[in-house]
Order: sequence, then C-alpha cells, then structure tokens
Amino acid sequence: MTVRVPAKLNLQLAVGPPRADGYHDLVTVFHAVSLYDQVRVEPARRDGVTVTGEGADRVPVDQDNLALRAAAALRTAIRDRGSGPGSVHVTIAKRIPVAAGLAGGSADAAAALVACNELWAGGLSQHQLAEIAATVGSDVAFALLGGTAVGRGRGEQLTPALAPATQYHWVLAFADGQLSTPAVYAALDRLRRVVPPEAALDAALMSALRSGDASRVGQRLSNDLQPAALSLFPALRKTLTAGLELGALGALVAGSGPTCVFLAASAERALELAVSLSGAGVCRSVARVSGPAPGAAVVSVAK
Ligand code: C5P
Repeated sequence: MTVRVPAKLNLQLAVGPPRADGYHDLVTVFHAVSLYDQVRVEPARRDGVTVTGEGADRVPVDQDNLALRAAAALRTAIRDRGSGPGSVHVTIAKRIPVAAGLAGGSADAAAALVACNELWAGGLSQHQLAEIAATVGSDVAFALLGGTAVGRGRGEQLTPALAPATQYHWVLAFADGQLSTPAVYAALDRLRRVVPPEAALDAALMSALRSGDASRVGQRLSNDLQPAALSLFPALRKTLTAGLELGALGALVAGSGPTCVFLAASAERALELAVSLSGAGVCRSVARVSGPAPGAAVVSVAK
C-alpha cells in the first residue's frame, strides 16, 4: 500500500501566547504544494522503518519515527474497536527535506495513517483519522486534508478555505542546514517584548486568496516565526532579499525554517526565478512547486 503526501507552506503564521502545555496558540493558513514524499506500508513480523532519499540519514528509524508513531496510534484505535491489526514495515521515500519548515515528518505520519487504515481495513473516517493525526503532531491533520485551509489551536483545528481553482507557482530555496521547531518557538518567546493576547487571521490574505490574484497574495504573506528563524540563521536574510530583487511577488521563511519560499507570477517566471536563485549562490538547491496540492492519497495498492 503506497501513499503520496504533500509538503505544506504557511501563507500566514500568526503565533499567539505560549500555553501551559508548551505549545503556542496559533492561526495559520496552510497551503499544500506539489513536493511529495511516498510512504509504503506492508505487513511485517515487527514494526520497522526504512528511509531513503533527501536527508534520509537524519530521520530516526526507531519508535520516535513519526510514521511509526502514527501507525501505532492507529493500531490502538482499531484494537479498541475489536479487530487486531498486525505489525508493519514502513518505507519512506523522501523528497521533502528534513527539518526544513515544510512539515515533512508530519506528512509521513499522515501518509502512514492513510496507508495503514487501508492495509488493515480499519474503516476509520477522514474525521477519525484527523483526530488521531492531532495526537501525533500539530501539522499531521493538515497533511491528510491538503489544499488550502485555516488552522487554529496548535494548527490541528482545520477549516478548508473557499478559494477559486487558482494554481500558484512557488520556488523553494533549500538552505544548507536545519532549524529545530521548538528552538525557533523558544527564540520567538525570547525576542518578543509584547506578546499579542491572541493570534488573528489576516482578512486581507483571505480576500486575496478569494480573488485568486497572485500579486495580492504575494503582498500578504506573513510569518511571525520569521524574525526568530532569521535570528538563528541570519544568512536567510540574503536569500529572501535575492528572491525579491529577482522579481518574486512575495517571499517568506517556510514555517519554522530554514527553507525560503517565493511566489512567482507564472510557471515561466518560477522557472526563471529558480534558475537565477541557484545561480546567485544563496541556497543549497531550489525546487519549483505548485499549490494547492491534494492531501495524502493512495497511489498504489500493490504491496
Ligand atoms: O506538534 P509538533 O511535534 O509538530 O511540534 C513541534 C514543536 O513545535 C512543539 O514541541 C513546540 O515546541 C512547537 N510548537 C509550538 N506551538 C505550536 C506548534 C508547535 O510551540 N502550535
């Protein structure tokens, strides 16, 4: 059973105050893009995981692996309903870079939920899978859903965004290095003198998305984590400036970083921007993607 699952961008990431449980209340506009990991699950004598591809050596292959944790959480839920699913081997082919702000680990967890639900004939609904997803990580439920959606709470309470069928063309600039999400949130807490009492959705971004006008969307991209990510990874400033000088409609750090994201006016502009950015030597590599992309979906039932 093989499932394909997208990376996510945050077109807005508004971070509220820290909570007692160590998380932050947030309001975010998630946007899935066409950079996919593939996750295969097959019956095995005991649970295990193999990771290949982009950054594979930095993914844990023990019980800390998010895909295995998701499979274990689903197994418990199905067992509670009476049937007895067995062990699985999970094989992850990574294209989403690790610790890059693109929720690659959460994506793999979402893919494992969809794949195991099929393999075990668990029969859980999308809604039930989303509830389990939220226990595994803040971004897992969105990777199930895909598209463009507003996330609240830790990011797990989702409302799909009503928007025309516009495809946006993005260039991702991958950095030479990683940022830890908890470290970036901690840096934000240190940097902030005034903490907003609550995070608020940017009405102008939502209106821009409804209009389908890429230049308006580009002007409203925002990420409260960006100053924190830049404080830990100052070289990103140069990458963002380069992209804007090369004609991007908007630029921001992806999630907790360090990937930089640029919106282009068309597929052709995205190609030009990608070529120029890689020539400028301001990142490790670039990728062109489009969004919104669909959430985790079965691509092959063989094995
Ligand atoms: O839920 P997930 O494992 O993706 O979160 C990783 C870390 O990011 C959390 O342990 C927390 O430090 C931080 N985080 C946060 N507030 C959120 C989401 C994540 O502080 N809403």
